[in-house]
Amino acid sequence: MRTEVAIVGAGPAGLLLSHLLGREGVDSVVVETRSREYVEARIRAGILESSTVGLLDEVGLGDRLHREGQQHRGIYLQWPGERHHLDFVELAGRSVWLYGQTELTKDLGLARDAAGQHIRYGVRDTRLHDLTTGHPYVTFTDADGGAARIDPNVVVGCDGSFGPSRAAVPDAGKQTWERTYPYAWLGILATVAPSTDELIYAWHPEGFALHSMRSASVSRLYLQVDPDTDLDEWPDERIWDALARRLGAGLEGWDLTPGPITEKSVLPMRSFVMAPMRYGRLFLAGDAAHIVPPTGAKGLNLAVADVALLAPALVALVQKNDGRLAEAYSEAALRRVWRSTHFSWWMTTMLHPNGDPFDTQLQRSQLRWVTSSRAAATGLAENYAGLPIGC
Ligand code: PHB
Repeated sequence: MRTEVAIVGAGPAGLLLSHLLGREGVDSVVVETRSREYVEARIRAGILESSTVGLLDEVGLGDRLHREGQQHRGIYLQWPGERHHLDFVELAGRSVWLYGQTELTKDLGLARDAAGQHIRYGVRDTRLHDLTTGHPYVTFTDADGGAARIDPNVVVGCDGSFGPSRAAVPDAGKQTWERTYPYAWLGILATVAPSTDELIYAWHPEGFALHSMRSASVSRLYLQVDPDTDLDEWPDERIWDALARRLGAGLEGWDLTPGPITEKSVLPMRSFVMAPMRYGRLFLAGDAAHIVPPTGAKGLNLAVADVALLAPALVALVQKNDGRLAEAYSEAALRRVWRSTHFSWWMTTMLHPNGDPFDTQLQRSQLRWVTSSRAAATGLAENYAGLPIGC
């Protein structure tokens, strides 16, 4: 198969890239190891920054998001006895939108269907070849077992942390930075109306808790747990008890309504950055190049911002043979990546007790500061609601 851009991975980054390229008349082929059903059901965070929403609107992908998503002005930050609302609109002039990654992925899939884009799901043994030559290529086994090959101008890795793209960059061609946190999140999806209008981030001596949601009738909640947690030790009742204790601590007149749990999983917490986000004719976007812990919901937004920078760079490269934006891509993307990496580390270390009494006092002091100083609250709001793409 000849094409201009081979895209490895049909998550939100790969699908959005193919959409943006298609709008400019640049042809792409997308390969994905998972099935379409799996990709569209994969539960991830659900907060879109204002610039993510702005981009989706601009490229005709915002209709359902505006109809079914919820605009949130801010978040609640709390610790036992105190709950404070931070109003991002007032502080930073921007809001966020609650819209699950599953929903965005479905919208992207339908938009690609409408454009006649063929996406090869269920492929195996994807391999990237000759990336530093003028003729890179990708081989794979298609869903029917046939050997296949793509001959593109450039390859883009949108295949996450464990895909073949990052692994195709030799150690000598990359620098990496990593932080593993000594805790994890136990996440649940429950069929029950949220007990709050906006997200609650709760510090508690027993551990962090987060009350998020997906719709008026579906709640998403998280509990800080040990990384080696066995889900069998967390029957539903224990989860709801811990959530009620951590989220309701010292707050008169607020109750958490429990409901049937439909999904339960343990999420590791890790920060990772690889630079540069390019190796010869391979460009990396989203989780293939960087991972953030979920606190602050930056992962999907970073992937969108990468692709928003990469699409015009690839259009200039393949249509005009102008490589200037492609040359600048990695550095420009990494500026935002490090801002989000810092912000999600900062939120994470502020909110998760780690058993160290000194750190506990620092966390309590920091929480008081961001909820009482307008300058500090504005810093949080600016980062959470997101900087304009390209900054
Ligand atoms: C979620 O709704 O899944 C979510 C929201 C905010 C976060 C993390 C996860 O910081």
